[in-house]
Amino acid sequence: MDVRAGVFLYWFHIICAGVFADVWKVQVEPEMEALVSSCVVLPCSFTYPGQQQPSDRTKAIWHKKDNWNDIIFHKDGSKVEDNFKGRTKLVGSLGSSNCSLEIDQVRNHDNGPFCFRVELETSTKDKYSFVDNCVSIKMIEQSSKPDLQGEQSLQEGQPTVIKCSVRHTCPSYQPTLTWSHSGKIMTSYKHIGHGLWEVESLLTFTPTKEDDHSSINCTVEHHGKVIGERVATHSIFVKEQASLMHIVVPAVSSLGAALFVGLLCFFIVKRYKKRIADLQSRDGNGMWSRLSRLSRRFHSGDGRSGSGGREQRRSIWSRFSRRGQGHQVQGNYDSKANNVCTASGNKPFSKGRMPSPKS
Ligand SMILES: *[C@@H]1O[C@H](CO)[C@@H](O)[C@H](O)[C@H]1NC(C)=O
Repeated sequence: MDVRAGVFLYWFHIICAGVFADVWKVQVEPEMEALVSSCVVLPCSFTYPGQQQPSDRTKAIWHKKDNWNDIIFHKDGSKVEDNFKGRTKLVGSLGSSNCSLEIDQVRNHDNGPFCFRVELETSTKDKYSFVDNCVSIKMIEQSSKPDLQGEQSLQEGQPTVIKCSVRHTCPSYQPTLTWSHSGKIMTSYKHIGHGLWEVESLLTFTPTKEDDHSSINCTVEHHGKVIGERVATHSIFVKEQASLMHIVVPAVSSLGAALFVGLLCFFIVKRYKKRIADLQSRDGNGMWSRLSRLSRRFHSGDGRSGSGGREQRRSIWSRFSRRGQGHQVQGNYDSKANNVCTASGNKPFSKGRMPSPKS
């Protein structure tokens, strides 16, 4: 495609768009849903040839497709079919080509199809029924419960968000959403296209232990005397806060216990070292001297074989006399024991060097 063809197509497109913007045209949603006894708003916008007319020069009518005389909306209420009297109104501004129609207290038989008709009070008295673009309504007999989304297993003390939402086609009277649990609530309303709206409520709360194994309800209240389910239930399970209480406390207490035991051992060892040192300094190399004394007593039979007063006296005497000698003998052993110590360092009890008590 060369440049000239491109330029031609561009201008062709502009001219066509300009011409066709000024035609009888309506934009509606061909299929709508409505909740019985609530309301429904049929989105509608239109264009017509010629100058844009103000609202008071534009007459808007909605009628049934099958019978153009079955009028469901007219500025003059008396022209409206009995079934629809007082239930329909234009919610759009005709001056800005908005022909949206609200039908309230929707009934089972309000299915349509319904078509928009415009009558312009100009010199030419232009009228047009857009019977090629009509709206059929599918009836929803009963409301269904709202949609709930959120975590089920929650952590105690950690804020959580639960979302409750509901879709509807009645923007004139938005449904309300209420919660069974306290918390911060944020509600938003948005048009999600094709005449469908969504109300969304966000509940933010901080679960406590008391919330464990409980359920949170979100209740929808539609406009009108709607029947059907209204409550959605969300079960929650709350885990106890494990962070500080269950990790730090045991760690600290076991560390404390370890430290306590360690200190206890240290002081016991220190104290007994001192006492051992005391003992050693009091009677020389305590253990050795006691050992040598014992073995000497064992070898001399005096103390045991004797019987009778004389014998006993003798044994006591001998004990005394031996004790007198003992110092000398002991002295000898001491030097020997000391030798052992110096020779083998920390092993004063090494068997090979066990001195004979007889010597
Ligand atoms: C027509 O009016 C309704 C009600 O005021 C509004 O929700 C809708 O957005 C309007 N449509 C357009 C195309 O402006």
